[in-house]
Amino acid sequence: MGDAKAPQQRGGYAEEVSAEELAEIGLRYEVDGEIATVTLNRPDKRNAQTSATWSALARIGAGLPEQVRVVVVKGEGPSFSAGIDLRMFTKEGVPGQGSFGSAGRQDDSSLKRLVDQAQQGFLWLRRPEIVSIAAVQGHAIGAGFQLALSCDLRIVADDVKFCMKEPALGLVPDLTGTKPLVELVGLAKAIDICLTARIVEADEAFRIGLAEHVVAGGDLDKAVADKAAQLLSANRDAAAATKRLLQGASARTLEEQRAAEGAEQAERLRALFNAQS
Ligand code: ACO
Repeated sequence: MGDAKAPQQRGGYAEEVSAEELAEIGLRYEVDGEIATVTLNRPDKRNAQTSATWSALARIGAGLPEQVRVVVVKGEGPSFSAGIDLRMFTKEGVPGQGSFGSAGRQDDSSLKRLVDQAQQGFLWLRRPEIVSIAAVQGHAIGAGFQLALSCDLRIVADDVKFCMKEPALGLVPDLTGTKPLVELVGLAKAIDICLTARIVEADEAFRIGLAEHVVAGGDLDKAVADKAAQLLSANRDAAAATKRLLQGASARTLEEQRAAEGAEQAERLRALFNAQS
């Protein structure tokens, strides 16, 4: 696995990732006004991910322009992502990035750093200032499923196939997917999905709350663009404050949440009306 520096918060990390570097890793990144699109772009390998993918994702997140409010994560070709590059399971590993064999021989602190770094590629998608949308078609397996789970919303094609393959391979899902999975579908269903590594198709994904919308494959881009436009119609600061409130709700008591609502609203009222007086 790679050894990239852990990026800091948005705006605090100026290092740009060049389009050439991204192309080599199998990613594309475009910013169009308030919408950024990150495309997994290794369709011939079903958008398999490596640690280079994750460190590039982290750097994209850290360097996201201030004006961006919606981040779309999508995959080129028939599959959103077939998960981690299976070469990681071989002795040779992924050139320049090691293998699970080499990772397993590292000491505790090196191993922890490795996983921490990988997780940075996924964590930024939850920031309150943005709404992230996964546009998912075909297979979303393992790391692919977890990348979709890291997004706030999932809009899926009717051929979608989610699968949490890690336990079947002797691993755990460690790319920040377990918390959103439990929050979305509940503990029992999450245990079922992860420990059986069964495939969750579109109808079930919609029914259990994994997907917000299911559309025909050809309509996926339009459905995502429509959702982005709806999201952008909200006041920017109110949207960020509301997302902060919603994200914190389950960890707070009613009393704490009530107080948090009041504090955010005071900010909003001052920002909206004080300036006019
Ligand atoms: N890593 C590396 N290469 C991959 C991966 C992967 N995860 N998945 C697919 N590929 C490659 C195949 O080796 C093949 O390459 P080749 O053309 O050079 O032979 C190419 O992508 C196309 O793969 P197919 O299997 O032919 O594509 P198909 O559309 O029939 O099937 C599917 C897609 C179902 C995703 C299948 O490729 C698959 O099961 N992949 C492995 C999934 C997996 O176990 N991922 C690990 C999950 S655990 C984790 O992410 C931590």
